[in-house]
Parts: sequence; C-alpha cells; structure tokens
Amino acid sequence: VTITSTHNSQLKELRRLTARRRARDLAGRFVAEGEDLLAAADAHGWPAVERYSAAGSGLGGRGWVEIEPALLAEISELGSGTRALAVYETRWAPAPVGPLCVHLHGVGDPGNVGTILRSAAAFGAASVSFGPGCADPFGPKAVRASMGAVFEVALARTDELAQLPRPTVALVADPDSAQPLHALTLDGPSATLLIGAEREGLPAEIVDGADLVARIPIATHSLNAAMAATVALYETSRRMARG
Ligand SMILES: C[S@@+](CC[C@H](N)C(=O)[O-])C[C@H]1O[C@@H](n2cnc3c(N)ncnc32)[C@H](O)[C@@H]1O
Repeated sequence: VTITSTHNSQLKELRRLTARRRARDLAGRFVAEGEDLLAAADAHGWPAVERYSAAGSGLGGRGWVEIEPALLAEISELGSGTRALAVYETRWAPAPVGPLCVHLHGVGDPGNVGTILRSAAAFGAASVSFGPGCADPFGPKAVRASMGAVFEVALARTDELAQLPRPTVALVADPDSAQPLHALTLDGPSATLLIGAEREGLPAEIVDGADLVARIPIATHSLNAAMAATVALYETSRRMARG
C-alpha cells in the first residue's frame, strides 16, 4: 500500500509528531528520518514502531509503508532528499546516571541540544539530563543534529541538582567567578557538567548549589552552549579516565 493522500491518518500523525512537542509527549513517540538514523536506532536495539519509505526509492520491505515522495518531503527536515523515516517510542531514564553526565538548564535551541547529545556520546557520557526550558531532544532538529546519539545516551529530566552524579560542575562564561576548568581536581569516579542558556547562562541558584564552578579560558566573552559542553566534555572525560 502506498500513501498518496495528504488526508491519510498515518501521515497526519507523522505531521503532528514532527511539528508538536505536545503531540510527542502525549503519544510518547517521535520521528527520526534518514537511513543513517534508522541504522543507528537498529544498532542500539531501539525498535521502530512504524517504518516509512519514499515510493520508488527501492528501500523498504516487510512491514514498511510507502509514501508518495512529495508527501514525504512535506514532513521532512531534509526536504525532497528523504527516502526513509520511522516512528519510535520515546525513552526517559528514571534518573540521570554517571559516571559522566551533562545537565542542561534553559538550552532552548534544538540544534544545540542535538549537538550536545552527539558530543556526550562521543566522549562517553552516560546520560544527558534536562532541566527547565530546554528544547525537546526528541524533536526533529535535535534528533537530526544528534546524528543518532539520541539512541545511544540515556536521557533524563530533573530540576534537582541532588539527583545528579557528583561533583556537579557549573560551567560559566564569567571570568571573575570561576577557576579555569583545567585547574579543578576532577579525578573522582563521576561528574556532572552543568550548561546554561544561550542568553542568560546558568541561574544563580544553580551556580550557588553546584559543587564546583569553572570556566573555559577563552579570548572572547563566551562560547555557544554546545561548543562549551564539547570542550568541557573533552577535558573532563580525559581527566576522569586518567584519574
Ligand atoms: C552562550 S553561553 C551564555 C553566556 C551568558 N551570556 C553568560 O554570560 O553566562 C551558554 C552556556 O555555555 C557555557 N559557556 C559558554 N562559554 C563558556 C566558557 N568560556 N566557560 C565555561 N562555560 C561556558 C555556559 O554554561 C553558559 O551558560
């Protein structure tokens, strides 16, 4: 069967899941697109609920549903190039886990969230934790930017620093309030890096409640949140591995 009508109910559901966070939360489902992401899900044992391919693409098989390419392009982040997408159940870990964890507070840009997931996986972080005001890691832009890491790193939600693996390290751009990250003693078995919002940074109560406060010494005022997380993950994972 090929979906050829824009009013098809499966297509409508795909549109809802890609367009609206609330629809994803209610359904507990999200969409990933592109053969690489589908392969990443398979590699990490994350089964698809439904699989769709562009009619005539030669992709697919038993259990796949074909969609007219123009209709698939409408719901795609990638536009007319998309050949495959699939629906997955969202998974939230009951709590953030270590040894290494990244906690985000107010990181609202989905591209940054996805990039941080990708870096977290690259540097062996066990989980990424989401505080208030963050973009949905299961949204299409974040999933895309994660390059499959959304299927690899445990995702958790918490507002409480007490739930995070310790020590908690607040990353701040302000040179006067923090030691350089490389000067901290980080040789214990675990740590959590706290990353703040693009405009406001971390709120004072988070910085005050953190075990340690650190900055990455740079020549300008600040790095983008995902870049700062990546540099901090490099430094911290290297030192934890040595310690
Ligand atoms: C664009 S920055 C926020 C800048 C914000 N205007 C401020 O002054 O805090 C976004 C986040 O990236 C991290 N960050 C950026 N540059 C950093 C640096 N040089 N050292 C440590 N963290 C940094 C912090 O966690 C910050 O909350």
